[in-house]
Amino acid sequence: MAKIASSLSNVFTVLDRSSSTALHRQLYNQLREAILAGRLAPGMRLPSTREMANELSLARNTVLNAFDQLYAEGYLVRRVGDGTYVSRELPDDLLRIKGAQAVRKHPPQSGRLISEWGAAVTSISVSPGTYHGPPRPFRTGTPALDAFPYKLWGRLLARRWKESGPAIIPYGDSAGYLPLRNAIASYLSTTRGVQCVPEQVVITSGSLHALEIIARVILERGDSAWIEDPGFLGARAVLTGAKARLVPVPVDADGLNVSAGARRCANPRLIYVTPSHQYPLGMTLSLSRRLELLRLAGKTGAWIVEDDYDSEFRYLGQPLAALQGLDTEQRVIYVGTFSKVLFPSIRIGYAIAPTDLVDAIVHARSVGGHQSQTLDQAVLADFISEGHFARHVRRMRKLYAERQQVLLKAARSELDGLLDMKASGAGMHLIGWLPEGVDDRAASRAAFDRGVEVTPLSAYCLEPQQRGALRLGYTGYTSKKIWTAARRLAAALKTLD
Ligand SMILES: Cc1ncc(COP(=O)(O)O)c(C=O)c1O
Repeated sequence: MAKIASSLSNVFTVLDRSSSTALHRQLYNQLREAILAGRLAPGMRLPSTREMANELSLARNTVLNAFDQLYAEGYLVRRVGDGTYVSRELPDDLLRIKGAQAVRKHPPQSGRLISEWGAAVTSISVSPGTYHGPPRPFRTGTPALDAFPYKLWGRLLARRWKESGPAIIPYGDSAGYLPLRNAIASYLSTTRGVQCVPEQVVITSGSLHALEIIARVILERGDSAWIEDPGFLGARAVLTGAKARLVPVPVDADGLNVSAGARRCANPRLIYVTPSHQYPLGMTLSLSRRLELLRLAGKTGAWIVEDDYDSEFRYLGQPLAALQGLDTEQRVIYVGTFSKVLFPSIRIGYAIAPTDLVDAIVHARSVGGHQSQTLDQAVLADFISEGHFARHVRRMRKLYAERQQVLLKAARSELDGLLDMKASGAGMHLIGWLPEGVDDRAASRAAFDRGVEVTPLSAYCLEPQQRGALRLGYTGYTSKKIWTAARRLAAALKTLD
């Protein structure tokens, strides 16, 4: 490290000779920074390159290099036979000192940084925790990444690339890669009872993205939107961003309480619902409620958004048919994702749009950005059409049922009296109810301090709930990890009053 000589000490800090950044680049950066911050004022004369090199104990070439760059970018000017000066031509708004004063003088004119939408989405979250890094128990929404068929996926990827590289490199179709849309339409009609043709399938970067597009296409500011309470934070964030009037609708053992919703708001524009497996409590929307909901939508013209995020994982009996399959009036927009059934970073989801909405949704999809990689979509289409997808789902269903049993056993042994957890016939997480009076956010914090991630039920609620609970994902973790985490969670919960 070279200490800077006193006459230039208000300009430079130190030049670091051990850094991987070349000395001339460091010198350039510091001179530029000093000019922008006003420490070297416009019109100020600089020492000659020779003087500066001496003062900083640098080779003259190093200083010449830095100066050349600053001349080229207009920060310095050379006057022949006179010397080097800081340019007087720097636009005022480049100078941070003046810029900062200007902002202070005229805050309203120059102070609007972001839109109302920007402000709304900045203040909301799509997930309750700030969990980063590799998933650890009991983070939710995590498939068994230890059981993903990596080799097979890699083989399909290599084959696709080799066989159709030039065909899949250009921008893709705005609605998504047609063979994938075909594969999804056929998968959904056979396994989920969804009524659709491939033209209704719009590929998105996940189901949250699909929700965002749908909200943009159908909502005006102030429109009423029913949302399950407790419910998916991502949907709440999207609807808040769209400036909708959120109507929290309670759920009970039969799922969304349609008549309670109608009492609160009889004429919603949008209804967001998770019929197969209510998010996060896990009940199924009963047939009578399904019919009641469809009747209401038919009568009022409301759009129902059916989020079928984890319906592949039903451990008892057959997967339930989708609400969309019962809809005779084209009021349901069906949304699905491969995040849970394959892996989250695949970023492929889809909307099945009623025919009246397809065009608007496809356009909104393309205005918001081009389609994601055709290569990924093509590999996924092959994975589905060659039967690997169905096999993977069958394997995961078995594995997840086993992992749920492990969690229940560990809970019975370690968490008795601390967390009341019941088996569930579906899904990727369980709800553990805390004893009366225990604050679920405090419980979640205490668990986090011991390396266990459990989300508090209250984070998903718009209206206060009577009893606290924790949400525990189990699908992504081996037995050993589940047992260790259950013990740590018990230790954490014992610290609470
Ligand atoms: C209920 C629900 N819907 C949608 C999503 C979003 O999934 P994607 O990764 O496809 O955006 C999630 C993710 O956690 C979810 O839990």
